[in-house]
Amino acid sequence: MRPVWLFLQDLVEDLDAARHRDPAARSRLEVALGYPGVHAVWVYRLTHRMWQRPGLRLAARLLSQAARAATGIEIHPGAHLGRRLFIDHGMGVVIGETAVVGDDVVLFHGSTLGGKSMRRGKRHPTLGDRVVVGAGAKILGPVWVGDGAQIGANAVVIRDVPAEATAVGVPAVVRTRPTTAPAAEMVDDPAIYI
Ligand SMILES: CC(C)(COP(=O)(O)OP(=O)(O)OC[C@H]1O[C@@H](n2cnc3c(N)ncnc32)[C@H](O)[C@@H]1OP(=O)(O)O)[C@@H](O)C(=O)NCCC(=O)NCCS
Repeated sequence: MRPVWLFLQDLVEDLDAARHRDPAARSRLEVALGYPGVHAVWVYRLTHRMWQRPGLRLAARLLSQAARAATGIEIHPGAHLGRRLFIDHGMGVVIGETAVVGDDVVLFHGSTLGGKSMRRGKRHPTLGDRVVVGAGAKILGPVWVGDGAQIGANAVVIRDVPAEATAVGVPAVVRTRPTTAPAAEMVDDPAIYI
């Protein structure tokens, strides 16, 4: 478990993550008072610490549900969320018990990191660092989404998504993203137009 001073540092990082990713955010105070996504992550950071102690698990679940009632965002205390997670707008976000989320991830409203089966064990997705999940997107089952991937709004992801890829549609398919600019000789050589 992270020491208390690092825990407090995480909370400040969450504030700054929202400020840096939302052009509409003007100050830490505005974010601290008016961003339900930040409130939900803060409560999660507390309930996740409680979850480490079996005797506090019921209290963690109840607190988590109270946060859901206040913010519209449901984060299971057992999920593993990285640093600087930003949940934008927030309403309708669901993060399941065995989900794992890397650092610097953005989730838009209505996104779900959910399960596909009722069996116990790992049943929710694993997201790498810097993943962006568009509004209304569902990522279902113990799939893996690589670092820097983007999930389109309203996509339904049921298979792994490679790092830096963009996945859109239902079911989601990966749209290849050019990783390098075309070679200069390909652009300048008139022979390519013959
Ligand atoms: C997926 C996304 C990241 C792609 O952005 P991009 O890299 O700029 O890609 P483009 O807009 O050039 O689209 C690439 C292709 O994917 C398609 N596409 C983009 N987003 C899509 C979506 N959500 N669903 C289905 N197809 C989509 C485009 O039509 C395009 O298809 P084409 O190549 O056949 O023309 C972006 O469109 C998206 O959905 N972002 C989520 C943003 C969001 O939820 N905002 C909420 C703010 S409140």
